[in-house]
This record gives sequence, structure tokens and C-alpha cells, in this order.
Amino acid sequence: MDLFNVYPLFPIQPIKAEGSWLWDAAGKKYLDLYGGHAVISIGHNHPVWAEALRAQLGQISFYSNSVQNPLQEKLAARLGEVSGYPDFQLFLCNSGAEANENALKLASFVTGRSKILAFKDAFHGRTSAAVAATDNPKIVAPLNAGHQVSFLPLNDLPALEATLDDSYAAVIIEGIQGVGGIRLPEDAFLQRLSALCKAKGVLLILDEVQSGYGRTGRFFAHQYAGIRPDLITVAKGMGNGFPIGGVLISPDIQPRMGMLGTTFGGNYLACAAALAVLEVIETEKLMQNALEQGQWLTEKLQKLAVFSEVRGRGLMLGFEPVTAPQDLRQKLLHEQHIFTGEAKPNTIRLLPSLAVSRTELDYFMAAVQQQIQLQSA
Ligand SMILES: Cc1ncc(COP(=O)(O)O)c(C=O)c1O
Repeated sequence: MDLFNVYPLFPIQPIKAEGSWLWDAAGKKYLDLYGGHAVISIGHNHPVWAEALRAQLGQISFYSNSVQNPLQEKLAARLGEVSGYPDFQLFLCNSGAEANENALKLASFVTGRSKILAFKDAFHGRTSAAVAATDNPKIVAPLNAGHQVSFLPLNDLPALEATLDDSYAAVIIEGIQGVGGIRLPEDAFLQRLSALCKAKGVLLILDEVQSGYGRTGRFFAHQYAGIRPDLITVAKGMGNGFPIGGVLISPDIQPRMGMLGTTFGGNYLACAAALAVLEVIETEKLMQNALEQGQWLTEKLQKLAVFSEVRGRGLMLGFEPVTAPQDLRQKLLHEQHIFTGEAKPNTIRLLPSLAVSRTELDYFMAAVQQQIQLQSA
């Protein structure tokens, strides 16, 4: 059987990983400033995380959601404390798309409505309603296109005021648009959006799948705006590579039996991984590190005239080379052995582990400067 060929692949096979580094079979070492697509929050194969998984494997790794699982309760309590949402409820699933799908479904259950408001250049995943709320027609199949979704430009307050009414079930918005090129919703925009949603009885869903889990220096990016959404979705950094996602649900929303469900969501291994992630985020003060390293890196990148713009918060950064961004990204990978991400059309995205060190970022800046000198020579 062949693989279903949907990914353009780099000719690189990592076989080992530790902290911010990957190694291939020949022993070549790569600096990972892409974090496996924003997933590596506490560092590849962190010893606390690896030991938690090993210990859990020695106990029990899976049973269905028909029995009591105290690890789920422990995770909900810890996540509530660390994130600043102790009074919220947690539904566990396996991925970002699933988290958004469940959040949209909940909003529809609660309001009895089905219209969704989303934003241009948004990415919310590939399941049915999540992909319908994603602004990329190439990945929306006719089946998904049946959902009632309207898209507004991000930060367009007049358009929002003119559009949002009580016929909508939910507004879904990323804490910072990732795939869209590291685009920040303005604090004032989020504040007005939150107030309008409350006034119209529309649920506000904050997709923090990429921007959450401490990446911006706060647990959630929307916390910079001081708002409190009804539903918050998480995945990526939550398990540091072990698949897990979740929906944080306002205490105003009442569950009923069978309303949501999943076979794998909240399994023992996923909970053990997620608990280890929260422990390390706290003990190693990784949110503080994300803030400090992010500020330092932003200032360094801003000083280089070859970048037209540097956007982002903490360790969720995007910058735009004035010329040939693809070239720079390929050269960083193949000549300097540094992984970065991209966003169409011209953005280079940095989503490193929240534990990335100044020495590692210095190494990156030296590589960027070397490439710039070569390009201008
Ligand atoms: C903001 C955002 N939401 C949702 C998703 C989908 O997550 P997953 O690929 O885990 O389904 C992504 C993935 O890139 C994302 O960046």
C-alpha cells in the first residue's frame, strides 16, 4: 500500500530529538524553531514528560470513557489553575480540529442556531464545521460548504458591528492567526467583539490551538485583551507531541449526557503527557521564558532592514523578508540546518519550544545574518 500523498516533504528523516534539536540518521543536527508546527511546547522528549509516559505505560494506557478516570479530573483542575479559568469545564478530545468542531457544535446546541461568523485568513482545522469556518476554499469540500459561515476582515470593527446579530450561534476567532501569517486581533477589537457577543447572545469561541499554552507569554493570547470567551479550544502544545486537544467551557453552559463524546479523548497516556506539560511550564517558568526570548528575538529581527515587518507575541513570531522568503527558508534549512515555518504568501513563522534558550536564538540570528550577507554579496 502507498501513502496517500498529501504532504510536500523535506528530504530529511529525523530519528532523534531533544530540547530544541533534531538529529538525522547521519548524525546531522537541526535546530527546531518550528516546534513540529507549534506542538513542542516544553522541548522535544523532555525527561519529565518521557518519564510520565513511561510510568503511565506501566499502569494502564487505555480504557473507554465509560469508566472513571481520575487523571482527567486532575488535568482539568491543573489546567484551570494554570490557565486562569478554574471555574470552567473541560471536554477532552484528540486534536485542534476536533476541539473546534466540538466548540462549534456546543454553541449550536446552546443557542439553537447554526450560523457562524469567522474571519478572513482564519484556519480552524479540517473537520466539517471547522473547515467550513476556515478561509481556504481549496480545503473545503462540497460536503463542508453546506455550513452557514460568513467571513469578515480581521479587526474591521464597522463590518463587525454591521453584521453580528442574534441570528448567529458563534463567532470563532484565533488568539493570533497562525496559518494566516501571524496576524493579531487588536485588543480593542476583541473587547468590542466580546461585548457584542454578550449583547446578542452569541457564543464567543477563542481558538487558542496554536497561540495558547503559554506561547505568547500569557497562557492564552486573548488574555492580553482581558476578555473572557465562552469557549476556548486547545491542542498542539498541550501534549508536547502526544495527541490531545480540549475545549474549555464556560460554567454557564450546562452539560447533558451524550451531548459530546469521543473514544480516544482523555485517555490515560494523553492525560499523563498533558499533566507533565503543565508541570514543566510552571516549574521551568516557560511562559516567562517565552516572553523574554520572544522580546529579544523580535528586537533583533526588527533591526535587520531586510525584513519589512516582524509580527507576533512571545514565541509566536512572523517576519517578512523583503525579497525571496522561500529562498531564505530553504537556505536556513539546507545550509544552516534550522527548521522554520511559513505562512503564505511571504511570512517566515517561528514557533519554537517555549524552553528555547538565548544561545539557541543567538545561533539562529547568526545564521540569518550569514544568509543575508551571502544574498547581498
Ligand atoms: C489555529 C488552529 N486551529 C486549529 C488547528 C487544527 O489543529 P489539528 O491539526 O490538530 O486538527 C490548527 C492547526 O494548525 C490551528 O493552527
